[in-house]
Amino acid sequence: MTIAITGASGPLGRATAEFVLQAVDPREVVLTTRRPEALADLAARGADVRRADFTDARTLATAFAGVERLLLISTDAVGARLDAHRAAISAAAGAGVRHAIYTSVPKPVPANPALVVADHAGTEQALRDSGLRWTMLRNNLYAHMQTPGIEQAAASGRLVTNGGAGATAYVTRADCAAVAAAVLTQDGHEGQAYDVTGPEALSADDLVALAREIGGRDVELVSADDAASMAGLRSAGLPDEVAQLVTSFGAATRGGFLANVSSTVADLTGRTPTALADVVRAALKS
Ligand SMILES: NC(=O)c1ccc[n+]([C@@H]2O[C@H](COP(=O)([O-])OP(=O)(O)OC[C@H]3O[C@@H](n4cnc5c(N)ncnc54)[C@H](OP(=O)(O)O)[C@@H]3O)[C@@H](O)[C@H]2O)c1
Repeated sequence: MTIAITGASGPLGRATAEFVLQAVDPREVVLTTRRPEALADLAARGADVRRADFTDARTLATAFAGVERLLLISTDAVGARLDAHRAAISAAAGAGVRHAIYTSVPKPVPANPALVVADHAGTEQALRDSGLRWTMLRNNLYAHMQTPGIEQAAASGRLVTNGGAGATAYVTRADCAAVAAAVLTQDGHEGQAYDVTGPEALSADDLVALAREIGGRDVELVSADDAASMAGLRSAGLPDEVAQLVTSFGAATRGGFLANVSSTVADLTGRTPTALADVVRAALKS
């Protein structure tokens, strides 16, 4: 069976490709990317590297030719990617792909305030309407992205959050990649929407405890509303769109949209999912 991964030069795509290349004959693996030159090493190992850009429909029919199972990695163009995702799904259906797997977000429902939800909900709908068989991988927030915030809290003695009493089931990108590779290489996952999470949902109190351990000092928890969160992130130098994204994830945490802990990582891969604390401790040691 021919398996393909889009966005294969991105960190998630490359990590998934590594797992897949360990599991199947490289001649059955197609890797698509906007930058084929970035995957020369994987081409040398036998993978078929092809150029694909979801915003350039002319590239897609050739890129997806002969593919049976496709991992469609959401692009990073938050708020401007739905048409590109729809084009990729339509090209996949036209090229004869049988099963598409999509990297989504937990609880992609209108009430979820995370700014990424509209793109993911629209893409999930396009996939359900496409006639393709589908699997949704609803990846929780990446654990490694929390390291700078914990480090800063440890240094300043303050952890500011608009997440209220909510909790988030942070997951590592490596665990997300292992799950994606499992769905690409195993049968039995069609029609499933999996929450892909770490081993526990962590509250702001848990993050404060970790910052205290890292910093070896007291760390105060400061609760902010969304406006105060935006103002604080802007004054820390984050661009507006990043501040908005981060604040919206805080609101999603507060609303309970990121708290579900699933057994998907262990069930599909046999791996014990990595805890956020281990990711942060390892990053700060290196
Ligand atoms: N769960 C989380 O916390 C979290 C955090 C960040 C991002 N994400 C999502 O997960 C995806 C994968 O993330 P990542 O960890 O690998 O980091 P990333 O650096 O954000 O990856 C960007 C990805 O988008 C692809 N891409 C961008 N424009 C494209 C286009 N026009 N056509 C086709 N592909 C395009 C890139 O592929 P090529 O460069 O190879 O073409 C690459 O795979 C992101 O794109 C984003 O949707 C999730």
